[in-house]
Amino acid sequence: MEIVEVKDKKFSLFLSQDKIKEQVKRMASEISADIAGKHPLFLVILNGSFIFAADLLRELDFPCEVTFTRVASYEGTTSTGKVKELIGLNENIEGRTVVIVEDIIDSGVTMCELLKILAKKNPADIRVASLFVKPDNLKVELDIHYRCFNIANDFIVGYGLDYDQEGRNLPGIYKIVE
Ligand code: IMP
Ligand code: MG
Repeated sequence: MEIVEVKDKKFSLFLSQDKIKEQVKRMASEISADIAGKHPLFLVILNGSFIFAADLLRELDFPCEVTFTRVASYEGTTSTGKVKELIGLNENIEGRTVVIVEDIIDSGVTMCELLKILAKKNPADIRVASLFVKPDNLKVELDIHYRCFNIANDFIVGYGLDYDQEGRNLPGIYKIVE
């Protein structure tokens, strides 16, 4: 069992690059079958999705566009608490088919907020493509159209995902060792 250390924690190999690639390919063919003719805009959520997006996009062979954004949270002045804001999205998405490319959906709160912000910009269709979903942690109702893996509630790192900003460059996915 391959063990790596990231900062103060140990992680063991959970998914090899080959296993990830298989599922990314499957997702790409599902996306192609659904929206190949729609000239979709892929909206990649930084930082965690950069490697996943690079691999996913290279499996697609139809005309599409890609852009990058990040979600910032700050304490709002209203009772709703945390407010999320999209940084760096300059494209006009009105009337477009948008595919959100996300690394992992945990509670689902981030994706839910993101969908609300994007819906106000009047896209024709918004689809969610997530590399990982932790179904047992979901706290909101979400349509997740494409996913590579459902996983348990363990913390993972690698292939773009970080532990305290480190470990993103690990080529496979590693799971925390208790
Ligand atoms: P949510 O709003 O709870 O769905 O949070 C999603 C975000 O939490 C992801 O975009 C990640 O940045 C982070 N996250 C959740 N689980 C993990 C994990 O196991 N490893 C690394 N980041 C994670
Ligand atoms: Mg993320």
